[in-house]
Amino acid sequence: MKIISSPKQMLKISQQVRRARKTIGFVPTMGALHEGHLSLMRKARRDNDVVVVSIFVNPTQFGPREDFRRYPRPLRRDLGLCRKEKVDFIFYPQAKDMYPQDFKTYVVVKDLSNVLCGKSREGHFQGVVTVVIKLFNIVQPDIAYFGQKDAQQSIIIRRMVDDLNMPVKIKVMPTVREKDGLAMSSRNTYLNARERKDALILNKSLRLAGLLVKSGLRDANRVIQRMKQLIMKKKTAKIDYIAIVDTKNLKPVKRIENRCLIALAVWIGKTRLIDNMVINVNLNV
Ligand code: PAJ
Repeated sequence: MKIISSPKQMLKISQQVRRARKTIGFVPTMGALHEGHLSLMRKARRDNDVVVVSIFVNPTQFGPREDFRRYPRPLRRDLGLCRKEKVDFIFYPQAKDMYPQDFKTYVVVKDLSNVLCGKSREGHFQGVVTVVIKLFNIVQPDIAYFGQKDAQQSIIIRRMVDDLNMPVKIKVMPTVREKDGLAMSSRNTYLNARERKDALILNKSLRLAGLLVKSGLRDANRVIQRMKQLIMKKKTAKIDYIAIVDTKNLKPVKRIENRCLIALAVWIGKTRLIDNMVINVNLNV
């Protein structure tokens, strides 16, 4: 496994690999790796000749009051995990090389970026989309792997790749959870014991929604109300949003029909957690 810090050198390697007609599978991450990330690497390993993982805590996707400085950076551990998954290259750039002083260009995916998580995290998805385009240009992947855990992010990346005719295939893999149902996240390490227990309420409220839909409830607002009631029972929990939206345009639906996405963000103490579930009524009843 080789660790590459220079964007120029990474691009040179990617071009050599592609000239040799080998496929590149790419997993972009911010490090602090867990089973969720590893599941993407395993899929990339199965599908491709060469696997590249990027580890870069991207400053432009964090708001001024967010946890950029505090974000965990256990590099040695991360490298060990990647080695075990037989990753070929780690792209580990420095912020000054990704964003030199005269950096000016940002890409916005309209309409999809200012709803749900984008509402409370202004500029977040502009930062994500911009860095992902840069990473794609540097790594030149045939296939890039993302997690359903960040549903809105995956939807926005797909839209961007389509809109800009980018020659990369996007694969979205299922959310990996702890045994008790909590969606794995690098931010789970912020939780104390009490908060860790309360954090289960995100997944529990989604499961409640699933049951309600299964039992015939179709009114989205009533489902959301029931989820709210459940979550508010936890003292450490504060709801950022709960939404039931169309899986393509992220617009709220009134009635739950066909496929829709139930997404939520909840503060547990000082940690903002997200989770989601895709409901397919046709398969549910
Ligand atoms: P990060 O939060 O490190 O996540 C990297 C990838 O792992 C994302 O595609 C995310 O959806 C996926 N992932 C995280 N938790 C997961 C879980 N429990 N199950 C399955 N997949 C999971 O997302 C980012 O980094 C950044 O925004 C990035 C795309 C790297 C751009 O900076």
